[in-house]
Amino acid sequence: MTASEVPYQEPQEESTRSAHLLDVDSLSRSDILELIEAASEQLSRIHSGDVKSSVLYGRSVYTLFFEDSTRTRASFEQAGKWLGADVINVSVSSSSVNKGESLLNTTKTLCAIGANALAIRHPDSGAPHFVARHSDAVVINAGDGMHAHPTQALLDVMTLYREIGDLDRTRIAVIGDVVHSRVARSSIIAFGIMGASVAVAGPATLMPPDWRDAGNADAATLPPPFDCVEMCDTVESAVEVADAVMTLRLQRERQTSGLLPDVAEYTRVWGINSERMSRAKPDAPLMHPGPMNEGIEVSSELAHSERSVITDQVENGVAMRMAVLERYCKGGRML
Ligand code: NCD
Repeated sequence: MTASEVPYQEPQEESTRSAHLLDVDSLSRSDILELIEAASEQLSRIHSGDVKSSVLYGRSVYTLFFEDSTRTRASFEQAGKWLGADVINVSVSSSSVNKGESLLNTTKTLCAIGANALAIRHPDSGAPHFVARHSDAVVINAGDGMHAHPTQALLDVMTLYREIGDLDRTRIAVIGDVVHSRVARSSIIAFGIMGASVAVAGPATLMPPDWRDAGNADAATLPPPFDCVEMCDTVESAVEVADAVMTLRLQRERQTSGLLPDVAEYTRVWGINSERMSRAKPDAPLMHPGPMNEGIEVSSELAHSERSVITDQVENGVAMRMAVLERYCKGGRML
């Protein structure tokens, strides 16, 4: 083929992807679409029952979780094993962290043992960024404090692509405890990158302080990457004609006292149920990152209804973590 025969291609957005996955703001729209495509291929392999490969044979993925987890830790482990990596789950509660070892020395130790990738969850915002600065291994942020949860955001975008298609010009409602939610922060950024607008509602005490006034007509809108956010006063106005609705867990373990009058009142004013969901577009899916406080932020009936894609999110999460591990670990350090 001569140069003149090469078909014209739209110039690709320049990738800003870094060596580590610390948050979604390091990704462009085309990076995210590439990851969705790779994850969808993995999902087809999962469904066909022929998913095990040796793509990451000889690589070691360490999970290092300083906070509780069911789906995120288990899906990193499942993803790594299906890609043929050795997966080592460091049990923090029985590790030398309990003898006072610092995060820096734990990182150095795991790298010296042979980690090619570290999937880390930590209660302090920024801990994975610190680890990345001192690690030969690729660092994947599996959730840091109230800051970021990039693989959750990627699986959320993937779920919406599979349910409603391209997110450009869609309206996604995000309801609940936004201020404590790293999922809300990362997923809202990702929805914005994909061209969606995000209608946010929840108690003022559970909103980031600089977002509280953003709904007032004369207040300035939020700066990027949150310029996709529209603040709504009620759950009904956020859900109205939404293409998808995401409700968030009430993060009681992160709340200081006085933020809520009581949980029953929260459910009455901000809980999602079938009646409220009926204001969204007819086929709008309901998402929840899990774990759910069933009956508090979402009614049991809705959580287990046809509208709910909560279990699909979990399944897509394994496929997305396979795509992420393959992408980031292939360039990682080989033993
Ligand atoms: C979330 C988390 O830990 O950030 N869960 C998850 O990873 N799917 C959300 C939460 O804890 O509410």
